[in-house]
Parts: sequence; C-alpha cells; structure tokens
Amino acid sequence: MDILGIDIGGSGIKGAIVDVATGEVKTERYRLETPEGAIPADVAETVDRVVKNFKYSGPVGIGFPAVVIHGVCHSAANIDESWVGTNVDALVGKVTGLPVHTVNDADAAGVAEMRFGAGRGIERGVVIMLTIGTGIGSAVFTDGRLVPNTELGHLEIRGKDAERRASDAARKRKKLSWEEWANRFQEYLETVEKLFSPDLIILGGGASKEADSFLPYLSTRAKIIPAQLLNQAGIIGAAIYAKDQG
Ligand code: BGC
Repeated sequence: MDILGIDIGGSGIKGAIVDVATGEVKTERYRLETPEGAIPADVAETVDRVVKNFKYSGPVGIGFPAVVIHGVCHSAANIDESWVGTNVDALVGKVTGLPVHTVNDADAAGVAEMRFGAGRGIERGVVIMLTIGTGIGSAVFTDGRLVPNTELGHLEIRGKDAERRASDAARKRKKLSWEEWANRFQEYLETVEKLFSPDLIILGGGASKEADSFLPYLSTRAKIIPAQLLNQAGIIGAAIYAKDQG
C-alpha cells in the first residue's frame, strides 16, 4: 500500500510516497521551504502544495516537531506558539481535503527505524531513538511498542533544557568541534541512561549522517548505533502511522 508521508521541519517540509509494507520510498523526495514564521495556515497551505505535487489522494501521514495527542498539537519548543491547541489533522485535512494523521516527528522516525532500519527485528527490551537536529527528539519503545510523546530533549542538564546545549543547532550556533559537542551529548546520554536504562540507543536526525565524526567520543552501557534511514525516516514513519490509524 502506497501512502504519502510528510515531514514538517523548521526549515523544510518534505514528502514522498512510501510503500508501507516494505518501507521503500517510491518517489523522489519533494521539499519546499517552511514558510517564514511557520504559522498554521501557511504551513497547511505548503503541505497542500506538497500533496498536489504528487497528485495524491488518500490518507496522509505527517511528522510534526511537537507533542501531538490525537492530532492536536500541545507544545511549541521550536515552532510558533499559535500551534498549541491546533488540531493539525483537522486543519491540514480541511485544506487538502484528505484524511490526515499527525504524529510527533521523532516518534515517526523511531517507528520507521524499528520497522525497517537500525531497530529492525528487535522485539524485546527498551530501545530509545534520539533525533539530533534543530532540537533533540525522542522515541521510546518497550518490547517494540512505542510510548509516544516522551520529549526527552527537554530533560534539564546543568539547569538548562538539554536540546539548547546538545542539539545539532547548538553545535552549529556555538561553533563546537565534534569532540566538544560530543562531550555535551555524552553528558546528556548519561542522564538518559540513568533515568531509563535502555538496552539500545539509536541516534538519528540530521546529525546522524556524520555519526563517524562523533560516535567514537560517546560511550554508554547500552549499545549505541546510528540510524539507517537518514533523512527518510520521518517520512517513512509518518506514512506507516497514517496506515496504522486508517
Ligand atoms: C520538540 C519535540 C520534537 C523535537 C525534534 C523538540 O523541541 O519538543 O516534540 O520531537 O524537537 O524535532
């Protein structure tokens, strides 16, 4: 079954058609800039342009960078405040005229990695996927089942929001070397380990394509591995979510 998956991010809105049975991305990825200010109406209109590009009709899965409970946005760390309380499914559904199913972006990426990527076949234990990008996203799985909206990027480290110190955006903002950034991330991972004792940690998001540059500086009791689906994970996971909801 082919479903359109869309990943809404701070800089781009990306979509592709995904075969949800195999995880295969069946089209080129189509990307539009996230509109300036990223208010709900403008983002919905941009999503509609992505949908139209594929001449698609059917359920749409959306990965969204916030807490999303039953389609409603409940937080705004890296997005405009006006999203809080917005029913993303209803808004984008109205603009596109299609059934829309929205899920947290890191949860989407995690679902894709567990089904078709680095976590494939793991049915026991606790797996934590962390996405390292503008923020830090998290997806927690126990015995293969997702615990949604865990928001581990907002753990407090040294009195600060963890993602402010240790996201990829923080690395770029502070012009940190990989080693300097990895030291910060190591401290973050130690906090995550102390609280959750995972068996496996999967590192994804924009920074994961550079995993060779920083993995040597990280060490945890849990096994730690890079994600495999790179920038496709959010799209694939959003499509899977739409199928599972539909
Ligand atoms: C948001 C999360 C999101 C993560 C990655 C965080 O700031 O609170 O909901 O998953 O960024 O985009």
